[in-house]
Amino acid sequence: DWPALRSLMPSNVRIGTAVDGRVLATDARYRAVLGRDFNAATAENAMKWSQLQPTPGTYVWQVSDDLVAFAEENGLAMYGHTLVWHSSVPSWVSESWSAEELGELLRQHVTAVVSRYRGKIWAWDVVNEVLDEDGSLRDTIWLRKLGPDYIADAFRWAHAADPDARLFINDYGTEGRTRKADGLLRLVSKLRASGVPIHGVGFQSHLQWDKAPVEVAGNLRRFADRGLSVAITELDVRIQLPVTPERLARQAMLYEQMLAACLAVSTCESFTLWGFTDARSWIPYNYPGYGAACLFDSEMKPKLAHSALVDAL
Ligand code: XIL
Repeated sequence: DWPALRSLMPSNVRIGTAVDGRVLATDARYRAVLGRDFNAATAENAMKWSQLQPTPGTYVWQVSDDLVAFAEENGLAMYGHTLVWHSSVPSWVSESWSAEELGELLRQHVTAVVSRYRGKIWAWDVVNEVLDEDGSLRDTIWLRKLGPDYIADAFRWAHAADPDARLFINDYGTEGRTRKADGLLRLVSKLRASGVPIHGVGFQSHLQWDKAPVEVAGNLRRFADRGLSVAITELDVRIQLPVTPERLARQAMLYEQMLAACLAVSTCESFTLWGFTDARSWIPYNYPGYGAACLFDSEMKPKLAHSALVDAL
């Protein structure tokens, strides 16, 4: 047995994890650790557009509904992920459609999902990964067809559908001080100045064991100083195989540094991992040659990174 992270966190900061809906349905040990160590959950895939609406006209809510129900029953706050993301546009959506059609389709999608879970989701990633590495807007179907205002529109539509949900912009490679982080700061400042209902900034934090992001707390504070909540939304620390004790120790340090940065910033409300067990992580599929990115190993034993977090709390 190990100390449960959930019981050690300061009361104003949630500890969350991405949850795989299919695993949740079939694996009792997975459910037990989820409910024991965490008090928040993000759907790893179940709330993405391509999953929710694989064919035009029909939404498939089952996996997502089941996850929201599990969260409610187990005292986990639900973080919504994600409404607008170029990587999860259903394959039946065509760029040859008119701007009017695509804008209306996007509006209907945002409205349908946020309305369904109104009152049950504390925060939504309204737009995901809208920036390029140089800090400019990423070239996506939405930018090409609708122009840069699609971002403000998405926030307004989400706000109309659930006025109490906190609305976040989420990206990767922005946790440290980078050109992309500077671009993100410019974008959110502009959105705030024009009255767009945006409340927070999510920092995905998909890290690699031998690359520490630079000045994370200072960077997060730049956003907090503008009145925004900040959140670590998808932390994992991938290790280049083979896994060695030294690499596990470096990994533990990075987990601890990210937690310390969040705790050092007054508006950091949530610290979320992108999965909690090496048995169920996206890393081996997306980063060949890497693995072991999570807090628990594939036998569900807590790793050094877990005790590093416990020690830091
Ligand atoms: C990933 C999931 O973990 C995978 O299972 C899926 O195949 C692809 O998406 N940034 C995000 C997440 O915002 O939605 C991504 O999740 C990881 C990168």
